[in-house]
Amino acid sequence: MRVLVTGGAGYVGSHTVVALAEAGHTAVIADNFSNSSPAVLDRLERISGVSVECHEVELTDAEATERLFHAEPIDAVIHCAGLKAVGESVSAPREYYRNNLVSTLTVADAMEKNGVRRLVFSSSATVYGAAHSSPLGEDSWPLESSNPYGQTKVIIERMLSDIAAANPGWKVALLRYFNPVGAHASGLIGEDPRGVPNNLMPFVAQVAVGRRDRLTVHGDDYDTVDGTGERDYIHVVDLAAGHVAALDHLDSMTADVRAFNLGTGASTSVLQLLRAFERASGRTVPYVVGPRREGDLAVAYADPSRARTELGWMAARSLEEMCADTWRWQSANPSGMSSRLDS
Ligand code: UFG
Repeated sequence: MRVLVTGGAGYVGSHTVVALAEAGHTAVIADNFSNSSPAVLDRLERISGVSVECHEVELTDAEATERLFHAEPIDAVIHCAGLKAVGESVSAPREYYRNNLVSTLTVADAMEKNGVRRLVFSSSATVYGAAHSSPLGEDSWPLESSNPYGQTKVIIERMLSDIAAANPGWKVALLRYFNPVGAHASGLIGEDPRGVPNNLMPFVAQVAVGRRDRLTVHGDDYDTVDGTGERDYIHVVDLAAGHVAALDHLDSMTADVRAFNLGTGASTSVLQLLRAFERASGRTVPYVVGPRREGDLAVAYADPSRARTELGWMAARSLEEMCADTWRWQSANPSGMSSRLDS
């Protein structure tokens, strides 16, 4: 299939482009590079041996999006584009609602006008909010996130369900990511956050490589294995394979819309991850314990059984591989995607 990957230059999108190529699909990237770099294109070509077509486009612009669909024969869309920083969404909710909701509607309009009805959407475990306990199953109800970013995911899931119900032929997979970490084994692509990382793994990696002095652990008085927060970390290469499995499953899906957790089902504390990273990198990662971060849950991990049964997909990579691959990427690219590549 020819698959439009919105946000295809970003962290999850770029790994998904690699997975699509490996599975024999052709990816076409649409990205506005607001939180990614065109340098990824050269790296994708090195990994997969083919040049990936890329369109710089603002998906909130209906005409530009429509032009993209006219320029390209497209069989399916994997919609990864969107703003994703929880803290930023609290201070800039209008930007988050406008960008994430309008771009999704614009893409959906262009899809319907051009007869494209297969969609895989990047959702998030944040849709489960604080009301449900782990392991989190897809049928948890109601969905309600604690922050505007997460709320855009809740609303978009609902929007896409309504769109699929009203327009015959649509098939939509809603992929609820847990905590994506790691990098491609080549060390050529990985997570490249702008500014101070919000998330644990890129922060730990930047401390290990010397870009930051120490990690602040957000609270060690939770009711968990060692007092620090527990999450379900999933290797981004496994996550990318989950997108391909969902894409390949769409045509045989009985429901118009189906949500799938993409997680491992295992739970790892902040200190367990930190120690695993120290072992993988051979570096010490200094840390201090600070107060709890507002809005954080003690524990969140997936019940991944639906994806296993229905998509035939399950995460295969260990915490050790997540740390080793993150370290390979970080140490080879201390300044992220703008680091110079040896030829
Ligand atoms: N943490 C620290 N110090 C840091 C950063 C994080 O101790 O500097 C801790 C957090 O308190 C938490 C754990 O590390 O216990 C994981 O935090 P992340 O910020 O890496 O991830 P979250 O689980 O908070 O959020 C992630 C994504 C969200 C998504 C959510 C879904 O960032 O986009 O998972 O569950 F919504």
